[in-house]
Amino acid sequence: MTLDIEICSGTEAAGQQVAARIAALIRDKPDAVIGVATGSSPEPVYRALARYTDDGLDASGVRWFALDEYIGLPPGHPQSYRAVLERVLIRPLGLHPTSLHVPDGGAADPDEAAEAYEAAIAVAGVDLQILGIGENGHIGFNEPGTPFSATTHRATLTESTRRANARFFPSTNAVPVECLTQGLATIMRAGRIELVASGSHKADAVAAAVRGPVTEQCPASILQRHPDVRVNLDTDAAVAVYESS
Ligand code: GLP
Repeated sequence: MTLDIEICSGTEAAGQQVAARIAALIRDKPDAVIGVATGSSPEPVYRALARYTDDGLDASGVRWFALDEYIGLPPGHPQSYRAVLERVLIRPLGLHPTSLHVPDGGAADPDEAAEAYEAAIAVAGVDLQILGIGENGHIGFNEPGTPFSATTHRATLTESTRRANARFFPSTNAVPVECLTQGLATIMRAGRIELVASGSHKADAVAAAVRGPVTEQCPASILQRHPDVRVNLDTDAAVAVYESS
């Protein structure tokens, strides 16, 4: 088993721990390529990382690649993942927006945009990928049933994911139906993976991902096949991992 599970006292502690490893990577390799997730889970990581840059860590040579983006939001929409990542990561770290790469959810041809993004990531080579996990075991926007072989592609959000993300929009109906997402094969090419999850609502998905069968019905279970994954959990998210072991 290659998954390393770390239980933290809370989300801030988990964020600090992951940020410390990212800071070490950046010191070691100032032009590192880092894959970044949206959602609430990674935000403590970005907050902790901003404290490192405040204290002198130079992250200006890093290139950041987002996992996914909604299709169809107007340019500059505050919930587009480009806008979110500029708000929670790029500006707090004092970085230039051109260091952030996000799939083009406004492209006239989303399939072409997916292909271009996949090519850009393949050339860059992600050193470390930060992941959250959905309640149904999705990573990025790879919903249950997505082939493990998928590269960056256009996808449809499940109703449960749209409901989960409705907290960022006026209503569930306002949540886009489609997105562009790195595929599972894209994510698996990252050199290292740091997954963060917190809260009891994630406990079943986390247990299925780390202890269940490796199946396309639980997209995150593919991580069991990756050689270098750390799963950072708070005690609530870790509950079912213990029950099922
Ligand atoms: C969205 C994102 C995922 C993220 C998931 C969980 O669907 N596309 O990358 O992991 O939400 O988000 P949260 O951490 O807010 O629960």
